[in-house]
Amino acid sequence: MVKIERITENKKQFLDLLLLADEQENMIDKYLPGGDLFALYDDDLKSVCVVVSVNSETCELKNIATYGKYQGKGYGSALIDFISDFYKNDYKTMLVGTGETPAILSFYEGCGFEISHRVKNFFTDNYDHPMFEGDIQLVDMIYLKKDLQK
Ligand SMILES: CC(C)(COP(=O)(O)OP(=O)(O)OC[C@H]1O[C@@H](n2cnc3c(N)ncnc32)[C@H](O)[C@@H]1OP(=O)(O)O)[C@@H](O)C(=O)NCCC(=O)NCCS
Repeated sequence: MVKIERITENKKQFLDLLLLADEQENMIDKYLPGGDLFALYDDDLKSVCVVVSVNSETCELKNIATYGKYQGKGYGSALIDFISDFYKNDYKTMLVGTGETPAILSFYEGCGFEISHRVKNFFTDNYDHPMFEGDIQLVDMIYLKKDLQK
């Protein structure tokens, strides 16, 4: 049976999963302590995500990952459905930023996000090494947004 829990203690126990979405640990350490961490279990652990508050109207999904062999089975979408409902009374909008990777962009669009804006050179300015997703070098951060109150 699928269950989703909010985790408040020892959040770094999920570091292996968090690193799938964000490969530099010191970047994760910037949002994990203050973020809300959710874990999805289907018997055992399958996916996690982290959400932070940006301002009184907006929250941001900072990390979402499913173990490789369980990707494409609906766990990521189920987590986004859960957090969209969880935050709908507290925030109007949820943001998510990602590299320019077509598969990830279409995953978010399938979950109800639409493209919002771009932060030029985010990956080249903020990470200590060039980042690749397959053959594509990540340069700009693409932000997508979802209206939680529709
Ligand atoms: C992105 C990610 C979290 C999606 O989680 P998931 O559990 O695989 O998501 P779902 O099974 O709910 O997928 C939803 C849809 O996206 C598609 N999708 C998900 N990941 C995909 C991928 N890597 N390539 C192609 N399509 C993908 C699925 O086919 C599915 O489409 P459908 O609903 O039309 O069948 C997961 O692929 C992942 O952990 N990736 C590595 C970490 C990462 O890049 N995180 C995002 C950082 S911005």
